[in-house]
Amino acid sequence: MSETLPHGVAGIHALPADHHDGPWDSVIVEDRLKERLLATAVLVLRHGRRLAGSAVAPHGLVVLAGPPGTGKTTLAQGLAQAAARTLAQQGATTLVEVDPHAFPSEMLGESQRSVSRLFRETLPELAARRPHTIVLVDEVEALAVRRHSASFDTNPVDVHRATDAVLSGLDALRAQRPGTLLVVTTNFAEAVDEAFLSRADLVVRTELPDESVVPLIVADSLRGLAAQWPELAVLAEDSAVHRKVGKLLHGLDGRRIRKTVHGALALRLETARDPALLNLDDLVAAAEEAAAERT
Ligand SMILES: Nc1ncnc2c1ncn2[C@@H]1O[C@H](COP(=O)(O)OP(=O)(O)O)[C@@H](O)[C@H]1O
Ligand SMILES: [Mg+2]
Repeated sequence: MSETLPHGVAGIHALPADHHDGPWDSVIVEDRLKERLLATAVLVLRHGRRLAGSAVAPHGLVVLAGPPGTGKTTLAQGLAQAAARTLAQQGATTLVEVDPHAFPSEMLGESQRSVSRLFRETLPELAARRPHTIVLVDEVEALAVRRHSASFDTNPVDVHRATDAVLSGLDALRAQRPGTLLVVTTNFAEAVDEAFLSRADLVVRTELPDESVVPLIVADSLRGLAAQWPELAVLAEDSAVHRKVGKLLHGLDGRRIRKTVHGALALRLETARDPALLNLDDLVAAAEEAAAERT
């Protein structure tokens, strides 16, 4: 990718592309939820133009809201690839990743103009390139946030300013390019009720994995390691191991669960040198440590 990215854009990808496989399958949620995400995306991308102007026209907005580490970013990226694969016969898909940190609100008017330019000029131009376009605004609350408050808990006023900017931008984008899909993630579930709920075609609330899912994430993480060190296939296929470790990790988010499994390799020098030596005791020790840090 050699082109210079326009202001406010963090990445542009042509999909489907084999190296974008993986995220969609790696997040373990109900199949029904993935199906609804995919169906909503496909309807907008494939038929948004035809439906435009009708009373039931989709807005072209999907919102993923939930606590950090619950798979929102991964699902959003996976969705782009899954939708692109589904629609490949009708043409390629552009995934545009917006950089929410490009618009600090110190200079409020300036920042609003930049966001407005992004939705009125940059994104419509990008959306003209290929038959389908998905725009991802990850952690929308970072958009238009005051820079020095950004290290603290995000101010609800900033969150609302960010969601307002995106919603008016969406209307402008939709007017020019119906059929463009905007996927927004937020760690602030309350932002969703206020601004997005009535306009989103679909709001998905991601949650901490429940007790049936935690062992599955442990298993999937071990399978990832076994792909590199085949000796670990024994642990990766032993559901009693997954249940035992999973029980200790209940209450943690998906990111922490995956990190704990990987972190188990670094408790001893032997396993760091040769991960094939990882055993149940290492996993239990790492899980107990992670559980102890849980607040
Ligand atoms: N339900 C889940 N199943 C499997 N892996 C998960 C799940 N939730 C989170 N993860 C993993 O945790 C990591 C962080 O996920 P991410 O999408 O960045 O979360 P978020 O954007 O909600 O903070 C990823 O490696 C992801 O695969
Ligand atoms: Mg994220």
